[in-house]
Amino acid sequence: MNRTPLIAGNWKMFKTGDEAVATAERLAELSRDVENTEIMIAPTFLSLPLVADAVKGTKIKTGAQNLFYENQGAYTGEVSGEMIKAAGAQYVIIGHSERRQYFMETDDSVNKKIKAAIEADLIPVLCIGETKTQRDEEKAFFILDKQLKDGLKGFHSDELKNLIIAYEPVWAIGTGLTATPDQVNEIHQFIRSVIRTIFEASFSDAVRILYGGSVKPDNVSGLMKLKDVDGALVGGASLDADTFIKIVKFN
Ligand code: PGA
Repeated sequence: MNRTPLIAGNWKMFKTGDEAVATAERLAELSRDVENTEIMIAPTFLSLPLVADAVKGTKIKTGAQNLFYENQGAYTGEVSGEMIKAAGAQYVIIGHSERRQYFMETDDSVNKKIKAAIEADLIPVLCIGETKTQRDEEKAFFILDKQLKDGLKGFHSDELKNLIIAYEPVWAIGTGLTATPDQVNEIHQFIRSVIRTIFEASFSDAVRILYGGSVKPDNVSGLMKLKDVDGALVGGASLDADTFIKIVKFN
């Protein structure tokens, strides 16, 4: 199955508008010769329209790091899918472990957010992953199965045509610890097999599964060689364009 790799940068709560635009412009310049790999960066909400504007007509696509599931209304501090789309973004990250950990996101809110993303014509990047304790207690497969089944509950595969899944073991995020290729391979195969039980085989073969958690220029090629790894969701190493481009050009 030929799945186009996607290398995505999650800038989290870093960079002012000016800094974000400068990094995006540098990345656009460095990625001019990139073929057959999609590139996405997710700046903060405030920087998103500026960055989307700065990368128009280049190889770079943009995404938001979160959205709220209502379209508009009295929800102080929230941003809707429609607003993200209007800002020029194509993607939205949903259910990142930091959202689950610090902002009480649940599989249920993740499910609603995926629906809202689809309605706004945004590509959802569904993040799943087990914590260190869950892995130590041998509950990783159970947790991932639940996150997938509850997060994707009630959808028809047609609605999720562009869905992207990001497997990010929580213990590997920002810690410098990367899951070994064997661990990643095992989990990615498992994720694809769960997707096959929810939707049809052709959908499960086509869905792109990214790995995230301390991806760096020196470990990306080993990860990208794995059959079921279709890209990377990169935090820390995406903040600097000259570093991130080495991940984008993983071959
Ligand atoms: P990291 O973050 O690359 O800094 O580990 C990954 C992520 O949170 O998406």
